[in-house]
Amino acid sequence: MLSDPCLGVSALAFDRVAKEDVYLRSKLPHVGTTIFTVMSKMAQQYNAINLSQGFPDFDCPQDLQERVSFYLNNRRNQYAPMTGVAELRQQIALKLIDQYGCRLDADHEITVTSGATEALFDAIQATVSRDDEVIMFDPAYDSYDPAVRLAGGKPVHLRLQQPGYQIDWQQVAEHINDRTRMIIINSPHNPSGSVLSAADLDALASLIRNRDIYVLSDEVYEHMVFDGGQHESVLRHAELREKSFAVFSFGKTYHATGWKMAFCAAPAAMTAEFRKVHQFVTFTSTSFLQYAIADFMRDCPQHHQQLAAFYQQKRDYFCELIRDSRFVFTPSAGTYFQCVDYSHISDLDDVAFVNWMTQEKGVAAIPLSAFYESPPESRVIRFCFCKDNSTLEQAAEILRRL
Ligand SMILES: Cc1ncc(COP(=O)(O)O)c(C=O)c1O
Repeated sequence: MLSDPCLGVSALAFDRVAKEDVYLRSKLPHVGTTIFTVMSKMAQQYNAINLSQGFPDFDCPQDLQERVSFYLNNRRNQYAPMTGVAELRQQIALKLIDQYGCRLDADHEITVTSGATEALFDAIQATVSRDDEVIMFDPAYDSYDPAVRLAGGKPVHLRLQQPGYQIDWQQVAEHINDRTRMIIINSPHNPSGSVLSAADLDALASLIRNRDIYVLSDEVYEHMVFDGGQHESVLRHAELREKSFAVFSFGKTYHATGWKMAFCAAPAAMTAEFRKVHQFVTFTSTSFLQYAIADFMRDCPQHHQQLAAFYQQKRDYFCELIRDSRFVFTPSAGTYFQCVDYSHISDLDDVAFVNWMTQEKGVAAIPLSAFYESPPESRVIRFCFCKDNSTLEQAAEILRRL
């Protein structure tokens, strides 16, 4: 009999249990493997240049790595406090004052999480009950909808409007009712690269004023706003701040997506509910990483201060490289993504097009339809440009010939 030496259970018995368990009713019957996993796997299989999933192909700062090694080797390997290491929460609080003029209580309003994905999930589970409605905007990051469904809530998908993937606030007003519990915004926006303005936040504030509606603000690309623009965080907005979970990711800021480190800032009463979920989802996040990030934030603030310029250069370089291609695009205002229209190249739908491009031409991208509840007719795909210039050059060489 086969047995797994680590688990000490029979592999055959395990297999039998899985087969017998066919009566298990899926809570997410329409959910498959995420498009990011699918495309990265395909890129690997076909040895294609991977401009699909959003992760850098360069490493995180050396200074940060050294701090990680230090704490790993100096006894910071046991459970961190449930809310996050105090030094890290303190550094986050200082940064939020500096960045957004927002003074938060590090003990009661900031929680460290295992990735922004966890923070988004916790905030939704803490807030949304059966039959509550949650407004989100398509194209939308793919974790919002299933998290709302798992809470028993009802996702209400509205479309961002062209040109420029903007929120139509009149349309939002028409969809708000007594069951609306939460509105999820994401700026800078993945996948479109659009950013919300101060006027957008004012519009949102006026729509939820005197209503029992919370905001979940996904700001993981906070440091990637280009062309002199500033990131409009809900934390900068006195009224919205009082009703918002603001979610940020160290993975994006420090080129370390594999660490899955992030945090959520919210008023004390909301944070208390958030932590009730967090403590039973992960309880806490990797301890030595927290100490290392705290030191790095204190000692090297220039890293995040220079990030917009760093990624703007990459955006400009990539856009310049594909300027003479048959792709049509407007340079992104933020994030490390660039959406392009390929309708001058092919009549294929976007999934077929990225499959063809990956398998036959050797460059992988993400089809935008993956971010929609009901995809539009348009032919748009997303490239990720957080790559070494040499990777972008090799990819562009191919893309210019399509
Ligand atoms: C808009 C958006 N939100 C959340 C996340 C998740 O971030 P993390 O890797 O910190 O969980 C991502 C990652 O790609 C993202 O693009």
